[in-house]
Amino acid sequence: MNIYPEDANIFETSNTDDTSRPKVYIETYGCQMNVNDSEVVASILIGNGYSVTSDINQADIILINTCSIRENAETRVFGRLDLFGQIKKQKPSVLVGVLGCMAERLKDQLLEQKKVVDLVVGPDAYRELPVLIRAAEDGQKGVNVLLSREETYADISPVRLDKNGVSAFVSIMRGCNNMCSYCVVPYTRGAERSRDPQTIVKEVQDLFDAGYREVTLLGQNVNSYHWEGQKGLIKHTVNFSDLLEMVALVDPRLRVRFSTSHPKDLTNEVLYTMAMYENICNHIHLPVQSGSTRILKLMNRKYTREDYLNRIEAIRSIIPDCSISTDIIAGFCTETEVDHDLTLSLMREVGFDFAYMFKYSERPNTKAARHLEDDVPEEVKTRRLMEIIELQGKLSEQSKQADVGKRFEVLVEGESKKSKDEFYGRTSQNKVVVFPKAGHKVGDFVYVEITDCTPATLMGKIVEE
Ligand code: SAH
Ligand code: SF4
Ligand code: F3S
Repeated sequence: MNIYPEDANIFETSNTDDTSRPKVYIETYGCQMNVNDSEVVASILIGNGYSVTSDINQADIILINTCSIRENAETRVFGRLDLFGQIKKQKPSVLVGVLGCMAERLKDQLLEQKKVVDLVVGPDAYRELPVLIRAAEDGQKGVNVLLSREETYADISPVRLDKNGVSAFVSIMRGCNNMCSYCVVPYTRGAERSRDPQTIVKEVQDLFDAGYREVTLLGQNVNSYHWEGQKGLIKHTVNFSDLLEMVALVDPRLRVRFSTSHPKDLTNEVLYTMAMYENICNHIHLPVQSGSTRILKLMNRKYTREDYLNRIEAIRSIIPDCSISTDIIAGFCTETEVDHDLTLSLMREVGFDFAYMFKYSERPNTKAARHLEDDVPEEVKTRRLMEIIELQGKLSEQSKQADVGKRFEVLVEGESKKSKDEFYGRTSQNKVVVFPKAGHKVGDFVYVEITDCTPATLMGKIVEE
């Protein structure tokens, strides 16, 4: 599963099949961290006597975990709130709660603007949910949007809601200190803090014991993971490379992925750790945002085009078969055709295997909104985004074509949507492969020879190693 802001994917919780407890329906938008947060929320609520349902019509409480990254992410949520209003007309006892980044950004404005909303709970206040729900049941609208410097929900075992039972997200840190000028995340998620590594390793071990075969370590900037602890009298620190190793050592049969890496913090040490452990997947998501050093400076990204290309070179030399994906923003403030062409040329130079591509969307109160003019006309933004998408389409196709004829180890993740006789899974490089079942089951590792590809998927057949 790869959920990312622009998709505004609806992620529904599974049914815990308990009829006597009040039922909570959770709908999730935004990044993988939000998906994992919904699992934390489900865990807290189940621990307090609630059950979760995937049927909105059965719900006593409707929660929507929201994203503020671009304007259209918020528009989508407002549309959903209107729909929840209709449900509430039929069943007035239903409570509606807004969680996540919009709750944090809009605070009690949400209660004023949208009558349907009973609860507004920010990303660091989920432990308070049971109390806030009880207050709302008594007719008091509940708001808690306090951000914390410590909260990492380290002791809470998320209730896995994805149902595939094979791959899981594990949050290793929260918040972000980077202050990219366009970005709302530091305001909605607060300061960066890292989670105790022992609790991460324990969660990963528990997942492995429960049959999971892949974990994705999550953070807005995983490469700045930093933990300081005490072992007896000796102080010790754990950086991201150390943590990656600790997680890889849980079991060689457990795949390890991570997201997201900031180009300014991706060290060679991390690349060597990736190269050393077979079970750390050979894929790096390294958002570039723009190919123009001038724009990168305005974005406050703290690297140049050359620095970025230097990181790409390091990846290629230390992990030759590593795939690289990225994020790109089209039409940031003051972007000229020359800047745009620099983005296109960088894309060609790197040959990204995959990319998430967005039009710049000004977010209130960010540095860019306060100090820079959103001056690229909408139609120019659209045209530039289209050119970026078209180029990436070709690059993604080339990346897949290059795999035809090769063999890859694939983790079987589920049944193909198109055929009951086929499975889908991913290569270490994070490319999706569809192949005939050949007597295997979900959670198995198999060797697949790639026989063909479509623009979106590789196709193959299971072979002996
Ligand atoms: N922490 C990650 C990504 C967080 S948000 C990182 O720094 O790479 C995911 C992506 O959304 C960003 O990489 C960026 O490409 C995009 N994004 C963030 N703010 C945006 C905005 N205001 N307009 C358009 N795209 C934005
Ligand atoms: Fe936003 Fe930048 Fe932090 Fe990513 S690193 S979450 S883009 S501020
Ligand atoms: Fe969106 Fe918040 Fe994630 S703004 S991208 S849900 S951190």
